[in-house]
Amino acid sequence: HVIKNVNLETVCGITSALPENIHPEVAFAGKSNVGKSSLINALMNRKSYARTSQQPGKTQTINFYNINDEIYFVDLPGYGYAKVSNEIKAKWGRMIENYLQRSKQLRLVFLLIDIRHEPSQNDRHMYRWIVENGFYPVIIATKADKIKRSQLSKQLKLIKNTLDVAEGTPVVAFSALSKQGRDEIWDLIETYALN
Ligand code: GTP
Ligand code: MG
Repeated sequence: HVIKNVNLETVCGITSALPENIHPEVAFAGKSNVGKSSLINALMNRKSYARTSQQPGKTQTINFYNINDEIYFVDLPGYGYAKVSNEIKAKWGRMIENYLQRSKQLRLVFLLIDIRHEPSQNDRHMYRWIVENGFYPVIIATKADKIKRSQLSKQLKLIKNTLDVAEGTPVVAFSALSKQGRDEIWDLIETYALN
């Protein structure tokens, strides 16, 4: 996919009104530090336009990246970030839910899971939400460079089994270092969000 321009167009905090965009939106959900912002950079062919950090809890707002005046990538705050109070966690949870429920342009929700770990309760909850709300589920298994090639299929199976995914659900191994999986993810965006 040719990236002509990218622009962080809207940043929403807990009290902001959501934008009424006219182009399709693709959202990136997953726990803190799983690699949402890094995946967005890889898809945009930008090194660090979306801010990333080794510390979990980097993205604390809903960030709308306008790509080519054609589509928006929506970078969500991670869930399960331990360092903030329960009150703040609940507010972020409501902010994310509110966006996912109300956006009129949301076409696709990617659920990111660290390839090394068994999906958590929160991950299972998010997966169910995606399916129950009629979105086509796509799982991205992130940080694929952190495991041996020989472990790949075992880890993908663990993710599929724990989330209890429907037959045929795409589970794409991705690495922000090697860019493994990037083209396949763009293909899914073209198929499910741009048509
Ligand atoms: P929050 O905004 O806190 O929810 O995190 P996030 O999901 O946006 O994660 P982010 O993209 O900031 O990445 C977190 C850390 O993981 C950073 O140090 C990244 O460099 C690292 N990381 C992300 N993707 C990969 C990957 O594919 N491979 C490796 N080795 N590291 C990665
Ligand atoms: Mg982030």
